[in-house]
Amino acid sequence: MAAARLVVLVSGSGTNLQALLDAIAADPDGFGAQIVAVGADRAGIAGLERAERAGVPTFVCRVQDFATRDEWDAALAEATAAYEPDLVVSAGFMKIVGKEFLARFGGRFVNTHPALLPSFPGAHGVRDALAYGVRVTGCTVHFVDDGVDTGPIIAQGVVEVRDEDYADGGDALHERIKEVERRLLVDVVGRLARNGYRIEGRKVIIP
Ligand code: GAR
Repeated sequence: MAAARLVVLVSGSGTNLQALLDAIAADPDGFGAQIVAVGADRAGIAGLERAERAGVPTFVCRVQDFATRDEWDAALAEATAAYEPDLVVSAGFMKIVGKEFLARFGGRFVNTHPALLPSFPGAHGVRDALAYGVRVTGCTVHFVDDGVDTGPIIAQGVVEVRDEDYADGGDALHERIKEVERRLLVDVVGRLARNGYRIEGRKVIIP
């Protein structure tokens, strides 16, 4: 079976992207997926450099280059569609996509979030969990729907909060979450690609 085509979207350091690149490079025939392009909402980020180093084509779609948010969304959808992906992975992509993107990629658009959804959705999952005073948190890989981090959950990983996490604003906690998150994302994307899947209501079934 041909490897599933992935487009990965990033906004920052791209360590989750790197984990996918490394897993595919370690087992190009067995992993079941290939990254055909990396897209970003901003230029000059480490995530794009990681793609370039790996020889993967990149594209940038910046909100400020479009008259409206809908036009940006349509352009992002078009740029992504040009690579004919089977799955799109948001790996630290810090934008909410719109109607056009979801119309084209709904049901095959995966996001990773640094909290145990449905708790602490949004752009500050780690900080919000700490502010609430939770003792465990973690990460969630889920399909994207038209809400903010509300789509069907595929897999979650748990990370304990340490007392010292309250002192440093969450940086060390986020790093520990990301260690779990990278393994989880690689595992989930590989299984989706190799086994296929179906979404039944809120349940994701990977045979
Ligand atoms: C990850 O922890 C991801 O869950 C988070 O950004 C980080 C990206 O790290 N995403 C969100 O907070 C989305 N709401 P990376 O750029 O090193 O992969």
